[in-house]
Amino acid sequence: MVANLGYVRMEMQEPAGWAKFAKDVLGFGMGKSRDRQGTKYLRMDKAPFRYMIEKGETDRFVACGYDMGSRKAFNEQVKAFEKAKVPVTHGSERDAKRRAVNGFATVMDPSGNTVEIYHGRDKQEAFKPGHGIKEFKTGKMGLGHAVLPGPNMKDTIKFYTKVMGFGVSDDLSLPPPMEGLPKQRIYFMHADNPRHHTLGLYNFPNPTGLIHLMAEMGSMDEVGYCMDRVKAAGLHIFASLGRHSNDEMVSFYFFAPGGMGFEVGYDGKQVKDWSKFKPTKTTSGDYWGHEYDFPLPPE
Ligand SMILES: [Fe+2]
Repeated sequence: MVANLGYVRMEMQEPAGWAKFAKDVLGFGMGKSRDRQGTKYLRMDKAPFRYMIEKGETDRFVACGYDMGSRKAFNEQVKAFEKAKVPVTHGSERDAKRRAVNGFATVMDPSGNTVEIYHGRDKQEAFKPGHGIKEFKTGKMGLGHAVLPGPNMKDTIKFYTKVMGFGVSDDLSLPPPMEGLPKQRIYFMHADNPRHHTLGLYNFPNPTGLIHLMAEMGSMDEVGYCMDRVKAAGLHIFASLGRHSNDEMVSFYFFAPGGMGFEVGYDGKQVKDWSKFKPTKTTSGDYWGHEYDFPLPPE
C-alpha cells in the first residue's frame, strides 16, 4: 500500500516563473539542482524536494510520485501491477537520482494519469519555509493531496483501490457543472497515513491534467496571510475561504501559474485508525464558504 504522496512533477514553459511563485506566494524553498535541464526542485520540508518543475512545451501536470515506504512494498506493488496486466516501466538510475530516490517505476492509470512509485528517499535536509510559516503539514502524511481528472471513473477507481490498495474515504456527488452535462463526482481515497485523502478523482477531463493540488499550513493565520499574497500576486481565487465537510479542511482555491488549481488549507482531518473508519457518501462538499468563481472562457 502507498505510504504517501512524496513528490509531484509538472512541466512549465517557464519553470523559473513557477518556482518564483512557489517561493514568493506559498513559502516553498528552492532545492538544489539535480540535472542540467533547468529543472526547478521545490521544497516544503526536510525531504530533498516535493515539487519537480521541468521545462516543457506546454504547462501541464505530469505525475504523482508515491512513496511505497519500503523496497519490499515497492516490489510487491510492481508484482501487483504485473498481475493486473498494467505495463510497468522501470526508471533508470539517472532518473532515480533526479528524483532523489533509490528506485522508481512508472505506470499509467486508466484515465491516462501518470503514476510513479518509489522507494528509498531517506535523506533529510534541514528546512525552514518562507513568510514566517512554521511548518507545512507534511512528513509521513506526504506533501498534501492531489485531485486528478478521472473521466474513465469506474476503471480508475478500481485501479487505485484494487491494484494500488488505496482506501476509500468519501464518494461525493454534486449537481452537473452546467445544464446538459452529467452529475459531478469526486472520489476521495487515502493512503497508509492519517490524512483524510491523498488522492481524489474527478469525473471530468482537464486540459492541465490536474484538478488541484493541496498544501496544508500549520495555522489559520498562515492561510490568511497566504491568501493576501495570492491576491497581491494578481492570481485568480476560484473558491473563497470555506470548510469542507469530508476532510474538514478550511481552505481557499486559486489558479497558480500555468492554470494549475491550487488549494491552501489548514485543520484537515486526520484519521488515526483506518480500520475503524467507515467510508462516507456525501452530496455536499462544504459546511460553509467555498463560493466558486470560475472565470468565463475567452470569447
Ligand atoms: Fe482538496
